[in-house]
Amino acid sequence: MARRLAALIVLVASFLAGPAACQGASICFSGWLRPLNPLLCPRGSRMNRLPRQRGASPSGFGLSYGYYNNRRSSSYCPRAEAIVRDAVRKAVAANPGVGAGLIRLFFHDCFVRGCDASVLLTATNSGNADVEREGPPNKNSLRGFEVIDAAKSALESACPRTVSCADIVAFAARDASFFLSRGRINVRAPGGRLDGRESFANETDQLPGPFSNVTELQASFAAKGLSSDDMVTLSGAHTVGRARCLFFSSRFAEMDPALAAKLRAQCNGDDNTFANQDDVTPDVLDRQYYRNVVDRKVLFGSDAVLGNATETVAQVRENANRVGAWERKFELAMEKMGRIEVKTRAGRDAEIRKVCSVVNS
Ligand code: HEM
Ligand SMILES: *[C@@H]1O[C@H](CO)[C@@H](O)[C@H](O)[C@H]1NC(C)=O
Ligand SMILES: *[C@@H]1O[C@H](CO)[C@@H](O)[C@H](O)[C@H]1NC(C)=O
Ligand SMILES: *[C@@H]1O[C@H](CO)[C@@H](O)[C@H](O)[C@H]1NC(C)=O
Repeated sequence: MARRLAALIVLVASFLAGPAACQGASICFSGWLRPLNPLLCPRGSRMNRLPRQRGASPSGFGLSYGYYNNRRSSSYCPRAEAIVRDAVRKAVAANPGVGAGLIRLFFHDCFVRGCDASVLLTATNSGNADVEREGPPNKNSLRGFEVIDAAKSALESACPRTVSCADIVAFAARDASFFLSRGRINVRAPGGRLDGRESFANETDQLPGPFSNVTELQASFAAKGLSSDDMVTLSGAHTVGRARCLFFSSRFAEMDPALAAKLRAQCNGDDNTFANQDDVTPDVLDRQYYRNVVDRKVLFGSDAVLGNATETVAQVRENANRVGAWERKFELAMEKMGRIEVKTRAGRDAEIRKVCSVVNS
């Protein structure tokens, strides 16, 4: 009886998860679903298939360092990067978790329609309400928007209509990495991106999920022109910030037993409770993540597989053991991510927004 009841609950839960997880049955966020029931993702739905196309390495054509410092350019705004840094410094001092949020915001922006601040939009050119922020990977999860808005409003006073929201997101991720690493990580961040005018929730299925296997992780990064090594390097960002229990509570048995016991108590059966991703140094951007992979102290299956898969285990061990190795790779991989599919020519699809959440009218 109890077993039948449990089966019924799973069935009902899978129907409830159905529409949100599988939009229109043609798109399925399989990497974001607990692998409970194959009915959740109909065979042949997008993302049950691996992304096929391999993107070229992102060139970032049109971006340049110190983009806003050129006195002879119409983009001259010499305080631009300092204004963003001040906003991020204040926010991270008040709550380091917001710094983690800003690093993730950059990733989620760049992987969907390129680094064009499409992740910030609530009002688009098409007028659709189902924007990226509403997609399963982002909803009730992304944070740091208010820091971008604070920087933008200071910038609109200093240099109206000059600094794009896409560049603010990139600079903010660079600055958050700097502060959370206690100055050990200096990402070079060129500027010159323009802001996009569209944003669709269903396109966030391009983001790999916590239940993705190594093949899926590699494929999702390859689709953006990033390598398997880039994927392992950037996953190190899971040394800061937090995650909801629903993404790891199915893995307690595979974790370090002491950590599993602690997390189980903390989650207390509530899927939406958050826990720190790195139990050892939760607010420091450091190579501890790779020690955690080796020690089975990471939360997601997508983290744990990096220590199991033959293609990735060597880099995990090197990052865990060699001082300074990961930090330099992270700097380069973040810069590379910031070059994905950038828009640098103004037109019908690209502009400098006045307000970061709304396209210009
Ligand atoms: C490799 C594939 C990746 C997967 C499957 C993944 C998945 C996730 C998930 C499920 C969460 C928790 C969200 C929640 O519970 O609300 C998370 C948090 C986070 N991710 Fe990733 N992620 C990946 C790669 C990255 C990359 C490339 C970065 C940045 C370079 C990143 C940075 C972060 C940060 C900083 C957080 C914590 C955010 C906060 O505390 O607000 N992740 N990730
Ligand atoms: C990963 O998942 C895909 C389905 O998305 C499957 O075809 C593949 O066999 C899996 N790979 C591994 C290594 O488990
Ligand atoms: C994604 O959503 C948009 C509008 O919300 C829709 O026009 C488009 O057809 C959807 N794409 C797919 C592949 O379902
Ligand atoms: C990694 O390997 C360990 C030990 O072989 C196993 O318990 C665990 O399930 C594996 N993890 C993943 C995510 O494949």
